[in-house]
Order: sequence, then structure tokens, then C-alpha cells
Amino acid sequence: MSEDTTHFGFETVPESEKAGRVQGLFGSVASKYDIMNDAMSFGIHRIWKEAMMDWLAPRRGQRLLDVAGGTGDVSFKFIERAGEAEAVVCDITEPMLVEGRKRAEAEKLAASLDWVVGDAMALPFPDNSFDVYTISFGIRNVTRPQEALNEAFRVLKPGGRLMVLEFSQIPNELMQKVYDLYSFNIIPQMGRVIAGDADSYQYLVESIRNFPDQETFLGMLRKAGFENASYRNLSMGIAALHSGWKI
Ligand SMILES: C[S@@+](CC[C@H](N)C(=O)[O-])C[C@H]1O[C@@H](n2cnc3c(N)ncnc32)[C@H](O)[C@@H]1O
Repeated sequence: MSEDTTHFGFETVPESEKAGRVQGLFGSVASKYDIMNDAMSFGIHRIWKEAMMDWLAPRRGQRLLDVAGGTGDVSFKFIERAGEAEAVVCDITEPMLVEGRKRAEAEKLAASLDWVVGDAMALPFPDNSFDVYTISFGIRNVTRPQEALNEAFRVLKPGGRLMVLEFSQIPNELMQKVYDLYSFNIIPQMGRVIAGDADSYQYLVESIRNFPDQETFLGMLRKAGFENASYRNLSMGIAALHSGWKI
């Protein structure tokens, strides 16, 4: 019987290979990840993450699970906004967590954070254990995103909230063409110069084009069981925030 396949950028690969390739990629860029994020997006990813916090409105005492949390950006912002909160950063790539832990120590936030290696599709946490689940620029890399959403629903407490920040599709065709020119021509070159790795950033731009559009992804949230599901476009749809509640 032939194995199911999936996308790795514009390549088609057996499903069983994708997680290993994603891990290899983020493992190799981990130490340059933060600086590349600022360079590629001209710092705009920070504005998008602040918009995520504005909509999420973190509250004192909440327990966050930040999946595909990488170097911890979202968790840091969440804790700062909440005043006092706990966050677990879960990621499949250990070197990304190692970079994040260094940052947490430098920013004196280490006591509020836990770092756990784990897969979004099989989270190592019990049912009903978090108030908030976030995944930022992560779900696009997961082999079966619907399974990650199902897992998010499982680990959230009743009344808990999911928020996804991800690259999305620009509804305006002309703008999409301009953006494609930038992303396919410039970003891999920036990756080569800054991180010494054009291929990883070629994957990044290809994976963005493969990800479902806003409405399709909204349907996936609903399928996982989330209610009051909705989305907001950021920067004309270059990225989008999706929100849903476990009621
Ligand atoms: C682009 S980074 C995003 C990091 C961070 N959330 C941010 O917004 O800056 C994507 C992260 O997803 C992680 N990842 C990919 N597939 C995963 C999976 N199946 N389970 C958990 N983490 C995963 C990668 O290791 C990587 O750290």
C-alpha cells in the first residue's frame, strides 16, 4: 500500500518524512531565527504578534500553551501583558527551545516558563489543562494541521481559547503578485546572506503558498469543535489571526 503524501514547500514528500525535514530545517536556522524574522518582515512580525495579544487580551493567572513556540516570542508577550501568568512553550525542534530559554534567562522571565519538546499532533499534556492555546507561524509546518487543531481542542479547558497566527492569502490579485515577487526573489537571498541558508527560506515562501486560505482554515477550526470561530486579516491578508473557543 502506498503511503500518503504531503507538501514540503513545493515538493511532495511521504507524510512520515515531513516532521523530520521540518526539524532539520529549524534546527539549522535556530541561532539566526530571531534576526531573520526581523529582517524578512522588516520587523512587522512584531506588530502582528502585538495584534494577536490585543485580540487575545491575556489575563492575570492564565495558563498558556504556546505550540510550535520556537524561541518563545508569543509566550514572552503573553506573560508581559498578563502581568503574572504561566506559559509552556512546546516545539518539535529542541535547538529552537534552547535559544528561547537563553532569551528567557536574559529577560528574567525564566520562572514563568516551561520548555517542552513535543509534536503539535500528539501533545504530551492531559485533556482540559490550559486556558489559552496559541500557535504562531507554526501550523503551516505541521504534517496534518487538522490533527493539531483537534489536539488544541483536547488540551484546552472548557471556556478556553485558541488563537492561530499564520501567513495567509491576499484577496487582491495584484497585491498577491507583488508580494510573490518579493517573497520568491528576495527572502531566499536574505536567508543566504543572513543565515547562510537559502533553501530553508525557499521552503518558507513555498509553504506559505500551500497553506489554506482564511475561510478554508476557519472551517477547519469549526471541524475541530471550536465555537464563535472568526478571523482577522493583518496587512491585507499577508497574515491572519484565527480565534475559536472551546465552549
Ligand atoms: C516559524 S517557527 C515559529 C516560532 C514562533 N512561534 C514564532 O512565531 O516566532 C515554526 C516552529 O514550528 C515548529 N514546529 C514545526 N512542526 C511542528 C510540530 N509538528 N509540532 C511542534 N512544533 C512544530 C518548528 O520547530 C519551529 O520552531
